[in-house]
Order: sequence, then structure tokens, then C-alpha cells
Amino acid sequence: MASSSFQPLQGMSDISAPDVAIWQMIEERAREIFARYRFQEIRTPILEKTKLFTHSLGDTTDVVTKEMYSLEDRGGRKLSLRPEGTAGAVRCIASGAEETVNARVYYMGPMFRCERPQAGRKRQFHQIGVEAAGAPNPRADAEVIALQLHLLSAWGLDGAKIRLNTIGLPEDRAAVLEGLREAIRPRLSELPEDAQQRFETNVLRLLDSKDEAVKKLIADAPPVIEFMSADSRAYLETVVETLKSLKIDVEIDPTLVRGLDYYVHTVWEVVHGGLGAQNALSGGGRYRIQIGNKTIDGVGFAMGVERMIAALEANGITAEQFAPKPAIFIVSLGEEALKENMLLAQILRQRGIACEMELTNRKVKAQMKRANKTGAQQVIIRGDTELEKGIFVLKNMEEGTQREVELPELMELL
Ligand code: HAM
Repeated sequence: MASSSFQPLQGMSDISAPDVAIWQMIEERAREIFARYRFQEIRTPILEKTKLFTHSLGDTTDVVTKEMYSLEDRGGRKLSLRPEGTAGAVRCIASGAEETVNARVYYMGPMFRCERPQAGRKRQFHQIGVEAAGAPNPRADAEVIALQLHLLSAWGLDGAKIRLNTIGLPEDRAAVLEGLREAIRPRLSELPEDAQQRFETNVLRLLDSKDEAVKKLIADAPPVIEFMSADSRAYLETVVETLKSLKIDVEIDPTLVRGLDYYVHTVWEVVHGGLGAQNALSGGGRYRIQIGNKTIDGVGFAMGVERMIAALEANGITAEQFAPKPAIFIVSLGEEALKENMLLAQILRQRGIACEMELTNRKVKAQMKRANKTGAQQVIIRGDTELEKGIFVLKNMEEGTQREVELPELMELL
């Protein structure tokens, strides 16, 4: 079979060195920040009952109708690879005891959506997300948004913007749909045919349409918040005020609607100019999901890690800057020295020093070349002569200097 038959599937990638270094940096710093906000890690299965997703994300959403990888197992059960992390996390929270009702969890891992692959859109991509369960509270929404921004700065990203909106409560929905339809109806004939159809089936989706005629009409229509109840409007105001007191600026975007049905009240997206058409780094919001006889309220977000890395690269932050280098490279001259040096390497590693060595008897020049490539700060060179004298040649790679040292001095230096 040709080797190309063994490539990953279209829209899916291997992630290996040197690129993996930036993934590790992102994950490590995220864990550190999550701990400060007292979120705990949750690891849910990648494969779940299809029903979990159709039920919580909404069975008419694009993700559910067009993008899920679904299969039947040998028992005829309908299963899907998770297209996002909220449904699984909420299922897990709902299955827990009372005290988990206020669970604060984070997750990192692969998600699957069978979309047409393009820049910034993959079929297997990775999310880092959080979910904070608990009754609706605008301050909880603001806290999670603050966490989101804290992560971006911990990763070193500049220039990201938050677009925020409210989609109100289900009780507001009828008034919102009617208000929007009334505003659009007199000029419906100006719209292309598919938009006219949307007008009937899902008028809210017209809000984020890319079509110029639709955009123009929406710009003239009143913002949907005007059709919502006073309570829903006050909720958004408190979110914005709380953010202001946390010194966080957000842009209210009345056209922001999210592609998943579970949202209530606050929704937001983080966008970055360095990303091109797929410019959403992250999406989040408050939601209400029914699992069996439990209703879980919560707020959360998920960042796309691939897009995060692209945005960091646009800011000049690359994997190379995080590639781990050995402190020491050991060069051996002769069989006996090779044997002794393996023992030395082992001792150094047990003492916490990252150390690499050549395990064959290659020429010094070849070994030095490899040492150079690893970026090691120091090289220890030992052959039969050094063994006999009980010394080590220590070369400082940065300065290009070398000298002979004995074991106690070597240990002290390292
Ligand atoms: P989402 O907006 O569907 O929200 O996805 C969140 C992020 O995942 C996007 O902003 C994007 O960065 C990334 N993403 C989505 N699809 C792809 C793809 N095909 N290729 C690369 N990256 C992608 C959710 O998934 C919600 N569960 C977020 C949430 C958590 N809401 C509340 N809690």
C-alpha cells in the first residue's frame, strides 16, 4: 500500500515535535490559571449516545444535522463522536450528587465535526473549555469572561476582541421572533430566496447572515434586545457593568447569535484579526440543558486550540520558543567510556537534569554536530584517557570554551 494511504484523514492532523511544544505551553498555562479560579479537570468520553447531542445542542442545528460523525455499534446503538464538550460535561454534572450542582469544570481534548476543511476549520480539532454550573447570575457570566481573557493574556495573545450579546430567555423568544419578523416583513421581497425561507423557518439566523442585502436590512431593524423582557435586558446590563468594574471592555454586537440551541441570556465570541475568515477563537455563553429529569444551568466557553495557535503565530509567538532543550549532551569516545557515560546520564536524569547522549560509537565530529543541534547548553566529553585520569571535559556551547573538571566539581556545576 502506498505510504499516502497511511496519512491521517482529511481535516485531521498528527501533532508532534517541534509543533507540540506550543500545545504543551498552552495546556500547562491553562491548568495553572484554571486552578486559580478553582476549576477542576473533567475527562468525559469522546464517544457518546447521539441522543445526548441532538437533545442538548438542538436537533435542527448545523452541528447536529450536518456535521456529526455518527455510527451504529455492534449492538445497533446510535453513537456520535463528540462535536463539542458542553453536552458531555453537563451530562456528567447531572449524574453527580447534589454538591456537583455548582461544579466548576474544565476540559481539553479533541472534538469532531465533519465540515468542509479549510483554513481554521478542521474535522478533528481541539477545545479548551470550562463550564460553571449554577443558577443564572450575571456575575458568574462576567467571572467566566474574565477567566477567558486571563487565559489569552497568559498565553501572550494581544489584539483579541470580545463580542457580546444576549439571546434572552425562552420566554422572550416569541416576542423576539415576532418583533424581528414585523421589522423585516415590509422589505422581505428585497431578500434572496434562501433568506426568505430562513425568514419562515429560523428568522434569528438572518441576524448573522453574510448576504449583503440581509445585512443591510438587519442593520436597519431594531436590535433584538428591544423585544425582550425588562428582566432579560437588566441581566445583560449587569453583565456589562460587572465587566466594566473588572476593567474589561466588550463590544455589544446585537447581530451575534450562536449556532447551538442551548443558550439563554449572555452569549459571546472572541475574535482575532490575525485569523482570516474563521476568526472566532472561542465561543461561549450561558445555557440551560435538560438531562433526564434534571435541568442544569451553567455558563462556559470553549477555545479552539488550532485557531489559538494561528493567532499566536500572527503575534510572532511560535512553537520554537517553547521547544525543550537538554541541559547536557554527553559525547563518548570508545566502548568503555560509552558504558560509563550511560551510568552518568542516568545519575544526572535522576537528579532532575535533562540529558541526551549518543548511544553508538560515532566519530566525535558527528556527535558534536548532534549535540549542537539539540541546543544543549553544555557538553560533557569523556573517552578512555579521561576515564583513566578520572576527569571530564566540559564544553560550554554558548561561549565555545572548554575545560577539564573532576566529579565533585562537575556535580556542583550542574
Ligand atoms: P463553538 O462556537 O461551536 O462552541 O466552538 C468553540 C470554538 O471551537 C470556536 O470558536 C472555534 O475556535 C473552535 N472550533 C469550532 N469548530 C471548529 C473546527 N471545525 N475547526 C477548528 N476549530 C473549531 C462550542 O463548542 C460550545 N460548546 C462552547 C461553550 C461552552 N458554550 C458554553 N460552554
